[in-house]
Amino acid sequence: MKRIKIKDLLQLPPQRQPVLVQGWVRTFRNNQFISINDGSTILTIQAVVALNSIDESALKRITTGACISVKGELVPSPAKGQPVEIKVTSLDILGDCDAEVYPLQPKKHSLEFLREIAHLRARTNTFGAVMRVRHAMAFAVHQFFNERGFFYIHTPIITGSDAEGAGAMFKVTTLDINQPPRNEEGHVNFKEDFFGRETNLTVSGQLEVETYAMALSETYTFGPTFRAENSNTTRHLAEFWMIEPEMAFYDINDNMELAEAFLKYLCQYALNYCSDDLEFLNKRAQEEEMTKPQDQRNELSLIDRLKFVVQNNFERLTYTEAFEILRNSTPNKKKKFQYLIETWGADLQSEHERYLVEKHFKKPVILYNYPKEIKSFYMRQNEDGKTVAAMDVLFPGIGEIIGGSQREERYDQLLKRVEELKLPQKDLWWYLELRKFGSAPHSGFGLGFERLIQFVTGMTNIRDVIPFPRYPGNAEF
Ligand code: 4AD
Ligand code: MG
Repeated sequence: MKRIKIKDLLQLPPQRQPVLVQGWVRTFRNNQFISINDGSTILTIQAVVALNSIDESALKRITTGACISVKGELVPSPAKGQPVEIKVTSLDILGDCDAEVYPLQPKKHSLEFLREIAHLRARTNTFGAVMRVRHAMAFAVHQFFNERGFFYIHTPIITGSDAEGAGAMFKVTTLDINQPPRNEEGHVNFKEDFFGRETNLTVSGQLEVETYAMALSETYTFGPTFRAENSNTTRHLAEFWMIEPEMAFYDINDNMELAEAFLKYLCQYALNYCSDDLEFLNKRAQEEEMTKPQDQRNELSLIDRLKFVVQNNFERLTYTEAFEILRNSTPNKKKKFQYLIETWGADLQSEHERYLVEKHFKKPVILYNYPKEIKSFYMRQNEDGKTVAAMDVLFPGIGEIIGGSQREERYDQLLKRVEELKLPQKDLWWYLELRKFGSAPHSGFGLGFERLIQFVTGMTNIRDVIPFPRYPGNAEF
């Protein structure tokens, strides 16, 4: 007999037809009612064992966490909240689970505790729901771009340069770190390393994907990204996934249009296709809200926040306009910000971004035209000589979810900036050549995939939206 997934089984009319279900026991009550989940949905199916129909020794092995295989008839359920149940005819234990030592008891566990058992946390309702939503969002990302004729480019994970300057990098080497070969000056001789040069894990696929945008026009990359900063926050990982579209013939306004349409599409997709999981996560988030002080609670529920993003235009304003709002804001005047806003050109901190989004505008915000000193060398320089055509999308509860810009497509201007910042020209030669041979105006941005998943699932810590989080001091699983 062929196994049926619980998700599909719940769609069937109960006609006493034989079914085979396999999954993990969530609870077993009164030696009779087994609640089984197989991860195809957040919902469980109840399998009912008739008295004395199953061997006593087999019944003893039905414990929370055990893996079982159940054959039976699909019948209407008299119990509330479930249309159907299985009347068990035979039952096999596929994997025993010693209830005495199984860490996942059927009760509430803290997310911190679950991080310590990352190999088992997938079996909780919360992580099942988060990972199904994560899958749906990855699928929707590709669907969005495919519908618009963008091409998915796989950019390399090992790179030869730190040209992006996005943060500290992880070294990739096969040299013996205890006894590395040295050159005449006594420095490590990377000429003898695997690639004949120093290499690192990528901090962004942007520079490489730009080369393909200069040929295929509309492209994107979606892959793992690594940053070796020591940031222990609820929004930073050392290994995260980033989606980076890069488009020829798009200016900064086209770029903002695309970013807004993209985020709206993803939120709408979740509302359309993840309703069971979102309902669960919505309730979970509401319970978490109740543990916070009244003035720090969200005014909108998780599902309402998703609808809000879909239905409202994002607020667009320049860095300079935002700077003025922040400088004159109550928390700035009352010195409530940790970093006070005083001089134009200062980088905005997460507290400022969240003030703009959550208190001032009460909607997603796109800031653009940032001071050039606080942004990357490749961003297009504006006529004023002070700002670049950068844009950041700021979301409630998250802060920066997207960072991007129009790119400097003029060879002379780009070279000048590379020289001013003393960047290694020998590593950037190919990037500069793009501006020499058929350069085109172009733009792009990066969406942090885990920050998106945080927003869509309402999970407050980024470590709980990726299967195995990598952060300072942690790479156990
Ligand atoms: O603003 P960032 O550093 O931009 C870039 O890397 C550009 N190359 C993107 C581009 O224009 N193609 O990063 C982009 C986004 C951020 O807005 C944030 O959502 C996410 O990546 N991000 C992180 N997410 C998790 N952990 C980290 N340490 C992150 N650093 C950035
Ligand atoms: Mg950024």
